[in-house]
Amino acid sequence: MVVVIAAIAIGAASSAGTDEALPAASVSETPSATPTPEETRPTPDVPAEPALVPSFDKSAHSIDDPNSIWLVVNKLRPLNPADYAPADLVSLPGGQMRAEPAAAFTVMADAAAAQGVSIIAASAYRSFAEQTAIYAGDDNLTARPGYSEHQTGLTVDIATPTGECRIYQCFGDMAEGVWLRDNAWQYGFLLRYPADKTAVTGYDFEPWHFRYIGVDLATEMHNTGITTLEEFFGLPPAPVYP
Ligand code: DAL
Ligand code: ZN
Repeated sequence: MVVVIAAIAIGAASSAGTDEALPAASVSETPSATPTPEETRPTPDVPAEPALVPSFDKSAHSIDDPNSIWLVVNKLRPLNPADYAPADLVSLPGGQMRAEPAAAFTVMADAAAAQGVSIIAASAYRSFAEQTAIYAGDDNLTARPGYSEHQTGLTVDIATPTGECRIYQCFGDMAEGVWLRDNAWQYGFLLRYPADKTAVTGYDFEPWHFRYIGVDLATEMHNTGITTLEEFFGLPPAPVYP
């Protein structure tokens, strides 16, 4: 910025000098082949505009490390190890999450409450054993053990205190679901299974299932309009298990 300001200042000074030294009549009489002072003036060394816009670093965090907030888990990308358990789980009303997403969830819930929207965690961290217990065989609805984002400690199923539409798609039409759809990115959460991306994610629309990815990535995805981690990171669609 200092360089830009200095270059502009030099340019302005040069212009002022030219105006004083060359009356309008002199300029009009100058043969066209002779460079004018305007043309011979050194070009200020100003960076090109695109260089001033920082590009998003897609390698800032691992998408493979189970401890990474950018981990991508799907039917082609199981947790490794399969029985991974986070080391920094903390308790929330309604479940456990890793410390960073738990704090972000609390901030988000407080912000929602301040706008008259009450949200609670209905299910958050689930161990391999807990996922085994809830897996009922429908691969469009529930991940197999070792393949669930819930096992990362980064994911939360969100509900209303009344439980209306809890884990049903009608949650997406409720004020709470609409608020989350529109605002969760500001707190680092991604609506992980959008209605129009079932062929990419491998799961039916889950307007209650939010995955913490951090504010930087959530903002980038919001701004670019890319709605799945698979598409953002150039990974193959994961509709079915191998
Ligand atoms: N319902 C999501 C896909 C899970 O079981 O992790
Ligand atoms: Zn879920």
